[in-house]
Amino acid sequence: MKIAIYGASGYQGKLVLAEAVRRGLSVVLAGRDAVRLRHAADAAGLSSPDIRVAPVDDHDALVAAFGAADAVVNCVGPFTPTGAAVVRAAIAAGRHYVDTAGEQPYVKSIFDTFGAQAQAAGVTVVPAANDACVPADLIAALLAERLGALEEITSVHLIAGGGAPSRGSLRSVIESIDIIAAGGLGYHDGDWRTGLPARTTSIFTPRSAEAVPVAKFPLSEVVTIPRHVRVRHVEGLAEAALVARLSVPIDPSIIAGLPEGPDEQARTTQRFTYLIDAVALDGRRARGVVEGPDTYGITAVIAVESARRLITDPAKPGVLAPAEAYDPTAFLDSLLPHDVRWTIEEET
Ligand SMILES: NC(=O)c1ccc[n+]([C@@H]2O[C@H](COP(=O)([O-])OP(=O)(O)OC[C@H]3O[C@@H](n4cnc5c(N)ncnc54)[C@H](OP(=O)(O)O)[C@@H]3O)[C@@H](O)[C@H]2O)c1
Repeated sequence: MKIAIYGASGYQGKLVLAEAVRRGLSVVLAGRDAVRLRHAADAAGLSSPDIRVAPVDDHDALVAAFGAADAVVNCVGPFTPTGAAVVRAAIAAGRHYVDTAGEQPYVKSIFDTFGAQAQAAGVTVVPAANDACVPADLIAALLAERLGALEEITSVHLIAGGGAPSRGSLRSVIESIDIIAAGGLGYHDGDWRTGLPARTTSIFTPRSAEAVPVAKFPLSEVVTIPRHVRVRHVEGLAEAALVARLSVPIDPSIIAGLPEGPDEQARTTQRFTYLIDAVALDGRRARGVVEGPDTYGITAVIAVESARRLITDPAKPGVLAPAEAYDPTAFLDSLLPHDVRWTIEEET
C-alpha cells in the first residue's frame, strides 16, 4: 500500500510521513520543493525515497504524482487558496483523497463543488481528516443512533497546553479571520448560516467544577454532521479565551519568524477535550467525550488511518463525512492505542 503525502515537507506533513513510515506503508513525498522534500525523507530515515515535485498550479504534475500511489493525504495549508486544485488532481488521477484541513468554508466548498465529479470517477474524498472533525463527526453518528432525530448538536473544542500553534495553523487562521470573527457557519433548519447568536455561551466539562465560557467558532464538523444526521441545529464552539486570541489578526511577517510548530516535548504536554452534546426531539440528552494528547500527532494518526481505510475497505464514491466513510466505533477504537479515549453517556 502506497500513500502520496502532498506537503510532506511541512510541519504536519512530516508527522504524517513519520506515522506512515512507522506503520510500514510505502510513500510518495510530493510538494513544491525538492530540497525540502529530500530533507523530510532523510529525517524519516528513507534511503531511496519516491520524491515528486508538483507545484499546486501544475495539474499534470499533481496527477502524475498522485497516480503513483493508492491514495492522497493533502497537508498543504492554507487550504482555502490551494486545496481545490489538489482535490481536482486526485480525482483526475482516480485516487482517494483525505486532507488535514481545519478551514470550515474550504471544507464546505469541497462538498459543494466535487461531489458529482468524485462519484463519476469512483473516488472517495474525505476533507478535514484531522484530530477534531473525525472523532466529533463519528461520535455525532453514534449519538444519533441512540437518540434518533435530534433537535441540536453542540460540538465544543477545549485544548490545554502544547505550546504555540504551528506556522501553518496560524496562516490558516489568517485565511479564516473573517469567518472566525463572524463565529463561523452554524447549521439551522436545513441550511448553513453565519451571524446568528450563540445558542450556548458556557459549558460544564468532565473536569471543571465551574462552567467554562465558550464562543462560536468555525468547526468543520458543523459542515459534516448534517450530511448524515437528522438534526435541526448544529453549532461549533471553542473556549472563549482561545476564540478571542485567534480573532486578532497576526502579521504574516511575525509568523515567518516563529518556530515551524511545537517541539516534541511541548506536544507531550497537550491535552484536548472535545464534547459533543446532543438533544433529541423528545428532549432526551446524551454527551460524547473525546480526550487525548497532541493534536498534531493525533491528526497524523487519523489522516493516515483515514487514507488506509479508504484503500483497504472502500467507501462509496463522492465527498463524504467521516461517518459516511468509516465505521464509527471501529475507527474510534483504533485510536485507543494512541491514548485517545471516547465515551458516550445518556443523561438520565
Ligand atoms: N484540527 C485541525 O484543524 C488541523 C490539525 C492539524 C493541521 N491542520 C492544518 O494543516 C495545515 C498544514 O499545517 P502545517 O503546520 O504543516 O503548515 P506548514 O508547516 O506551513 O506546511 C505547509 C506545507 O504546504 C506546502 N505549501 C504551502 N503552500 C504551497 C503551495 N502554494 N504549493 C505547494 N505547496 C505548498 C509547504 O511547502 P514548502 O515546505 O515547500 O514550503 C509545506 O509543505 C494547516 O492548514 C493547518 O491548519 C489543521
